[in-house]
Amino acid sequence: MLFWKLRKIFAFITSIVVFLSGGIASVPKDVTRDSYEGLKDVYADYFDIGSCITSAYTDNEELVDFYLKNFSSVTPEWELKMESIHPSEDVWNFSGMDKLADFCRENNLKLRGHTLVWPQQKNWMLYDEDGNFVDKEVFYARQYEYFKTVMTRYGDVIKVWDVVNEPFGYDLQTGAFKDSEIIKLCGSEYIERAFLNAKKVSDEYNLDATLVLNECSLAKNIVKQGYVLKWLKKWNDKGIPIDAIGIQGHGHAVSENETPDRLDAFLYALEAIGMKNIQITEIDLSLYFDKADTSQVEIQDWMRDWQTLKYKNLFKVLRKHKDTITSVSFWGPDDGHSWLTRNGVDDEPLLFDRNLLPKESYYAVCDF
Ligand code: GLA
Repeated sequence: MLFWKLRKIFAFITSIVVFLSGGIASVPKDVTRDSYEGLKDVYADYFDIGSCITSAYTDNEELVDFYLKNFSSVTPEWELKMESIHPSEDVWNFSGMDKLADFCRENNLKLRGHTLVWPQQKNWMLYDEDGNFVDKEVFYARQYEYFKTVMTRYGDVIKVWDVVNEPFGYDLQTGAFKDSEIIKLCGSEYIERAFLNAKKVSDEYNLDATLVLNECSLAKNIVKQGYVLKWLKKWNDKGIPIDAIGIQGHGHAVSENETPDRLDAFLYALEAIGMKNIQITEIDLSLYFDKADTSQVEIQDWMRDWQTLKYKNLFKVLRKHKDTITSVSFWGPDDGHSWLTRNGVDDEPLLFDRNLLPKESYYAVCDF
């Protein structure tokens, strides 16, 4: 099978790279939950370190101790997405988000506003009661009311908002933007109007919010990198208030398509067009190839080595850009709390294992 041939080649290359780099990092045999330095403290002179969690996570004292040791920022995994908090005109579900906001207030953690507009989610604001599209100005007016409600409710603790999440497409043959219901009604103008609406709320209520465009695949897809740079320049010339770019950072340990070098080049390009605030918003590195059938692949040590090396090089790049990168967040605090390990899938995408202990990748990232 092709996979096993590739596997052997990767294993071979990894061992040479590991050998040449003098080893990557090792976990002390007697490591305990107290015997290592919290990640956020190691990176105190660089950027905030965060992760996504849900409000249920905060009920568990063990998890909370681990979290507070390692992270200084929180991203709500689901509870601030419109499908959760405001799934229809008359329904508001504030309880999860209120709890997460209180947790951050009590523990002096930053909280990222993820996310106001995510085109792939269902959005009742686009339709009338018969299921037909409303006039787009009606949509923008509803959106303003929605932004006003959530941005003011959490405005004391959320200073950074992912205003639009993943607007750019995957199929770049068909155009720069992802097809969606919202683009059918409004065209790509919806992105500009979302930022203008968010800015209006921020100004009217003195929220001083940082407005972010959050996007995926920017460490691998150079066509997408090009589109993003082109549009950021265009929006900047038009005065659209985009304060920061969020680079998600979901990746694969053994993929050669997404590399720290490619990300490095993109970060320089962003800085060259004047982007002063860059946030890395959703890092994880799956051990598997992109689209691998995980039930057919057994995790091997060489995959972990490859991941460790990639994390090491990735953080080397991020440290280099510390003047523009303001926060680095993972998509999950530990391997037991990751979207990649749900539904029985075995994966180890993060820096901490299921026992909340630091892995080799933690030591690789902290050794500089
Ligand atoms: C995207 C979204 C996140 C999360 C992840 C994985 O990256 O931005 O909010 O949903 O997918 O589920």
